[in-house]
Amino acid sequence: MRILITGGAGFIGVNCATHFAGIGHEVIIFDNLSRAGSEKNLEWIKIEGLVDVITQKGPFDLILHMAAQVAVTTSVANPREDFEVNALGTFNLLEAIRHHNPETTFIYASTNKVYGEMEDLNIIEKDGRYMYQDLPEGVDEKRNLDFHSPYGCSKGSADQYCRDYYRIYGLKTIVMRQSCIYGYRQFGIEDQGWVAWFCIAAVLGKQITIYGDGKQIRDVLFIDDLVRAYELAYEKRDQIAGKVYNIGGGPKNTLSLHELIRYLEKLKGERIPLAYDDWRPGDQKVFIDNISLAENDFGWKPVTMTDEGIEKLYKWTYENRYIFE
Ligand SMILES: NC(=O)c1ccc[n+]([C@@H]2O[C@H](COP(=O)([O-])OP(=O)(O)OC[C@H]3O[C@@H](n4cnc5c(N)ncnc54)[C@H](O)[C@@H]3O)[C@@H](O)[C@H]2O)c1
Repeated sequence: MRILITGGAGFIGVNCATHFAGIGHEVIIFDNLSRAGSEKNLEWIKIEGLVDVITQKGPFDLILHMAAQVAVTTSVANPREDFEVNALGTFNLLEAIRHHNPETTFIYASTNKVYGEMEDLNIIEKDGRYMYQDLPEGVDEKRNLDFHSPYGCSKGSADQYCRDYYRIYGLKTIVMRQSCIYGYRQFGIEDQGWVAWFCIAAVLGKQITIYGDGKQIRDVLFIDDLVRAYELAYEKRDQIAGKVYNIGGGPKNTLSLHELIRYLEKLKGERIPLAYDDWRPGDQKVFIDNISLAENDFGWKPVTMTDEGIEKLYKWTYENRYIFE
């Protein structure tokens, strides 16, 4: 296959690139290197043999659209840029495909933020963590959209454009509404990529600021499982084109901020210095994906459980700490 990955020097993009190149596909990445660390990912994949990157050559069998402005905080500070990259950027890409590469399969990395704060759901606190009172399997794709924060709006509108370009123009788009993804080569910062950021901070001995009370819960997904979801979805593209899937760790892989700190303290064998600050906009107390539709439609579910994934990431971060210094 020929695969184009926008945002291919970013965390998810670079893991997809090495996976697909490693099994013999031709991968071209397109990235403006705006994310701190993406230039290091680019250097790294060049070493792995992906030399001729950052050109647009088509037609492509598969396009993974990962490029984005990814931080909610940045979207609040600069909503226009966020809109231009996330909403307009996706629209431009869809238009280019419609005119020049309509046979491609287009996978869009959307986000659970499209569901907003879900204030109608009852949330209870149990054992120092929040949980849904009435939704043990998590939030499914039938949930109303309720974009919150400029990032939620820009990613959400792109999500809807992808879906509609299937209905109106018959493009083979698949939307993945991703929860927290974590893994190798993620340059997590305080504003985005919290699992990786906590690991990096723990390894480098930095203080971690908890926004909110630390009891907030996310389902978390290890990067290898996400790449596999893209691969399996591609295999089933003719059956699932035009559909939207929640992709996350699901109810079996949930983690609070405090629980992650405890895991890391155990792995490091020391206390991690913490500070506290206010909740951030659009920050849900709980988000847990119901991932059964993806399992049903293309046979995907996570195989790396949270404790195993965190240990792998901590070890990798420790071994590669020089790239974060
Ligand atoms: N990591 C997560 O937990 C998560 C969760 C939900 C959704 N997503 C989505 O997945 C995608 C990938 O996220 P990631 O974690 O790999 O982020 P990332 O920041 O590591 O990667 C995004 C890449 O896009 C590039 N980029 C930004 N603007 C660009 C532009 N205008 N043109 C070309 N390249 C541009 C950046 O330089 C970066 O390399 C994003 O669309 C994000 O919204 C990620």
